[in-house]
Amino acid sequence: MVTVSDEIRKKCLVIPDGSGYDTSLFTIPVKYADFLKSILIPNGLVKDRTHKLAVDILSSVPNTKSLVVLCVLKGGYKFCSELVDAMERYICSCEINMSIKVEFIRLKSYHNVSSTGEVEVIGLSNLSHLTGKDILIVEDIIDTGKTMTKALELIKQYNPNSVQCASLLLKRTDKSCGYVPEFIGFSCPDEFVLGYGLDYNEFFRDFPHIGVINEEGIKQFAV
Ligand code: IMP
Repeated sequence: MVTVSDEIRKKCLVIPDGSGYDTSLFTIPVKYADFLKSILIPNGLVKDRTHKLAVDILSSVPNTKSLVVLCVLKGGYKFCSELVDAMERYICSCEINMSIKVEFIRLKSYHNVSSTGEVEVIGLSNLSHLTGKDILIVEDIIDTGKTMTKALELIKQYNPNSVQCASLLLKRTDKSCGYVPEFIGFSCPDEFVLGYGLDYNEFFRDFPHIGVINEEGIKQFAV
């Protein structure tokens, strides 16, 4: 079991090991009903936590008039959409003079036999757009942290003014390379999670809650 450091505990909601709600208590699409072990984080809680993250982010970004939100596809699309909506509402209600521009990238990671991650950026053809900008990378989940570490190295080569990262989930795993994003929604157990944008072989992205797949699901949707 991996313990949560004080630094991480202060900035996220910790979902303890062994937690999860019985799937019979939720409406589940028929196509997924037999393939989920539990609901780990219900949709409403994901949204409530995201709204607070939006406030935290806007209270701490450098004094900028323009923020580039870099959504990491595909998994980050739902979280990013909810986060940007909440940020826009806060900007409007607090009369903050700031505009948000949303860009999208896809990160393809390869892990060789010695487990060093190599990341290819697909989608934003010209990263020089990022030079001099204040950037918030929005990601679905940090597992080992290798993908984000490599992505940050790449993005920093283009000399942005500032780069921060918001991840909906941070997995508690002993395989972590130590990378901790600035903004975290939830610290979650070391299980394969899906839903709310996160997939298992392209399935479950459309599932509204964050859940844990069962053994039958792993077999059923294997490729
Ligand atoms: P990392 O490089 O090990 O941190 O992996 C990050 C990427 O792996 C994420 O952006 C996800 O696409 C994927 N990933 C890691 N863990 C999970 C999971 O539990 N469910 C779905 N995707 C995951």
